[in-house]
This record gives sequence, structure tokens and C-alpha cells, in this order.
Amino acid sequence: MTQDILVHTEGGITTITFNRVDKKNSITAAMYAAMADALEAAKADASVRVVVLQGDMAIFSAGNDIGDFQRQPPSSREESPVFRFLRGIATFPKPLVAAVCGPAVGVGTTMLFHCDLVYAGDNAAFSMPFVNLGLCPEAASSLLVPQMMGYHRAAEALLLGEPFMAEAALEVGLVNRVVPPAECNALAQAQAKKLAAKPLSALIETKRLLKGPQAAKVLEVMDEEGDSFRRMLREPAAREAFSAFMEKRKPDFSKV
Ligand code: COA
Repeated sequence: MTQDILVHTEGGITTITFNRVDKKNSITAAMYAAMADALEAAKADASVRVVVLQGDMAIFSAGNDIGDFQRQPPSSREESPVFRFLRGIATFPKPLVAAVCGPAVGVGTTMLFHCDLVYAGDNAAFSMPFVNLGLCPEAASSLLVPQMMGYHRAAEALLLGEPFMAEAALEVGLVNRVVPPAECNALAQAQAKKLAAKPLSALIETKRLLKGPQAAKVLEVMDEEGDSFRRMLREPAAREAFSAFMEKRKPDFSKV
């Protein structure tokens, strides 16, 4: 079992913490599997009412581990822990609360579209640099980002892939509140505690209704994106982007 994800349950709240700070909380296959397991356990356990996702005060997550992308790109939906995690978070029936400080890159940002409440430190920096890696959106972000931000801001976020800060995320509605980083995890816990005191059946039914008929569409888009993403992981643009990152140099896309 990996120590890079910590799971702690207390008072009806399961807290999942990224614990790989030396690698900027980038997410390996083992970490996706651990998070998917934790979500499944939290769903099945009637005493758990809320799940909190959190990182460190300086870094939420640098997204997928790029070395993993190079070494073991997922070949099918079924055998991919990434996909298990994304499906798990998109279909999780109980409230999900996130506390985000520092960079939230790639899936570090897209997972937040599936959280119900998102609190950010004022140092949070969100980015979805899929194009810069020769890849395409995932986690149904091609559907959810334009819905949330409007088409042009979504195109800027997804085509240029540049970071946007906590205040901009607050303005577009990705974030509920911005606080000093030292207060962020405590705020998420305090909000989770309020939720944990409420009747679970009413929380679940309200979340189901809030997600509405789009819930099935989200999974459909996630599948379509996933098929493209897995294909693109093996193509020259992505191979060049990953090699460049590992070799700490700028990628050269002039030939792809
Ligand atoms: N996958 C694998 N390793 C990663 C990583 C990732 N996504 N992100 C960071 N790391 C590693 C670095 O290789 C470095 O390892 P080293 O100490 O062995 O050299 C270590 O984490 C520290 O990263 P560094 O880039 O030096 O930190 P920073 O503070 O200058 O920058 C980020 C932080 C998050 C802005 C930067 O690391 C980054 O952009 N990471 C890649 C993000 C990305 O493209 N993710 C994929 C999205 S799909």
C-alpha cells in the first residue's frame, strides 16, 4: 500500500491527503488506485457522510506523474487506475469537499469539477496544460469547463494551458472561497463537519438532483476523452513533451 496517499476517517469524514510533496504531489498509478479504493470504501460505509480531498499548503498536485505516463501509459479503460478514480469521483454520491493550495495542474484541477465545495488558498494556481503535453482534456473537462466559465475563457484555459489564480477561479465559480493557505485545510474540515451533521439521505438526494440528467453525459464525455487521451499518450507530440519535462528542457514541437 502506498504512503503517498493518506486516508483518515473520523467523525463521519474521510480525508484523503496527497503525501508526495517532494514530487509536487504528482499522481502515480498506485496513488490513483489508493484514492479510488478510498472513495469506494467511503461510499460503502454508512457512517461516512463526507469526503475531503486535500494537499499541502504549498502544493495541491502537479497532476499525473509524467514518468508513469512514459513507463506505463494506460492501455484500456478497464485496467486504468486513473479511469477508476475519475469514474469514482464523478459518480461519488456523498458530498466531496476540496482544499486547494499552490499549483493544481492537469487532473489536479479537473478533479475539482467533480467536487461539491472547493476552498482555495490565495496561492492556488489552477492549470490544464493538456495541449502543452500533446494531450487533450480529461475528466469531462471539455464539457464542464465551458459550462462553468463560458466558451472563450474555457478555450483560453484549455488551448493555452496557462495557470489562473485563486481570485480568477473564484470569479468563474470553480472555488467557493479564498483564504490564507494556512487556513484552507481547516476551513474545508469545518465545512465538512457541518455537512457530516446533516441527514445523509437528504445530502445524497440533493446532490443527485443537483447533478441532474447531465450525470450520464459526463460519463459519456469522459469515455470519449479517455479514448483520445490514451491514443495521444503514445503519439510523437506527447512523447516529446514527456522527454522534455524529464530532461528539464523546452519541448520542440516543430516536427509534430
Ligand atoms: N510528474 C513527475 N514528476 C514531477 C511532476 C509530474 N507531473 N511534477 C513535478 N515533478 C517532480 C520534478 O521532476 C522534480 O523532481 P526532481 O526533484 O527529482 O527533479 C520535483 O517534482 C519538483 O518539481 P519542480 O518542477 O522542480 O518544482 P517547481 O516548484 O519548480 O514547479 C510545478 C512545480 C508543479 C509548477 C512543476 O513541477 C510542473 O509544472 N510540473 C509538471 C506539471 C504537469 O505538466 N503535469 C501533468 C499534467 S497532465
